[in-house]
Amino acid sequence: MEYRRLGNSGLKVSALGLGTNNFGERLDEQGSVRVIHAALELGINFLDTANRYGDGRSEEWIGKALRNKRREALIATKFARAMGSGPNDAGGSRNHIMEQVEGSLRRLDTDYIDLYQMHVSDPETPIEETVRTLDDLIRQGKVRYIGCSVFAAWKVCEAVWTARTLNMNSFVSVQPQYNLLQREIEKELLPFCRRYNLGIIPYYPLAAGFLTGKYRQGEAIPKGTRFAASPRHQRLFNEKNFSILARLERFAGERGHSVGELAIAWLLANRVVSTVIAGASKPEQITANLRAVDWKLTAEDVKEIDQTLQDKSI
Ligand SMILES: NC(=O)c1ccc[n+]([C@@H]2O[C@H](COP(=O)([O-])OP(=O)(O)OC[C@H]3O[C@@H](n4cnc5c(N)ncnc54)[C@H](OP(=O)(O)O)[C@@H]3O)[C@@H](O)[C@H]2O)c1
Repeated sequence: MEYRRLGNSGLKVSALGLGTNNFGERLDEQGSVRVIHAALELGINFLDTANRYGDGRSEEWIGKALRNKRREALIATKFARAMGSGPNDAGGSRNHIMEQVEGSLRRLDTDYIDLYQMHVSDPETPIEETVRTLDDLIRQGKVRYIGCSVFAAWKVCEAVWTARTLNMNSFVSVQPQYNLLQREIEKELLPFCRRYNLGIIPYYPLAAGFLTGKYRQGEAIPKGTRFAASPRHQRLFNEKNFSILARLERFAGERGHSVGELAIAWLLANRVVSTVIAGASKPEQITANLRAVDWKLTAEDVKEIDQTLQDKSI
């Protein structure tokens, strides 16, 4: 396994991480624990979850899987999305963060969180309040590093500069949507992260499984898959995406790899990416995804892929 520093921090995270938003949703406790143990055995040390995944079950089952194994894993969880309908049940206020961190620690059955990420930005709470609270959590030892997730580039910049101005701990990472089909962050957020040394943790690295090539145009959706369970993902089924997929499959196939491996290897070819938190519903998927880590794309490869994606005839 390759390990990379999480942004400008000293923390080393596995290049392939594990996303767990399917725990407690489509995966039961036994299946979730099996996936985590398989990941740890393969050298994965970075587990991404959130307070609300599976209504708290994702955190709970991570806690169970890590009993007596806590030091083998780094836990990244999140707060800020709504946990109830009350006025203080979401966001970045001191009130909400202090409550949520205790809930996550309890469900995870641990006394510290390795990376505490603000899931979405909060337009109402002054950023100084959020930054001070997160800095307090680090000083209290409840949290070791902080990051954010779905934030506009300027909001990440605002948070980083607020922390700098107040001489406080600052975000070390950002978790945006980023994959071969969704490259919006390349305009603003990615250059910012490169300049300020924040690590990028792409979510939906496989476009929820579309980029593994298991969904074929005009064919029935395979039973038991993510797209069968969550039809909203089927919005990816269009002429353009299937055409891109076919070209990427050809590129990967000519080099003896699968298109899923290409999706991960392409993200890792960018050094600003710290870890690729691909989700998995079975241990075999992790083994398959791990092959991507050893496939080092060259600058030529990356250029060729860019040309393929920019081809106006698609
Ligand atoms: N910050 C945010 O707002 C946000 C939003 C979304 C996700 N996330 C995080 O990002 C993580 C990754 O996203 P994701 O899990 O939603 O999507 P993803 O990583 O793009 O896709 C994962 C899904 O693809 C399928 N898959 C994975 N490897 C495969 C393989 N080798 N062969 C065939 N199928 C394979 C599995 O689905 P099936 O086997 O079930 O078909 C798996 O659950 C999440 O788990 C979560 O931690 C964060």
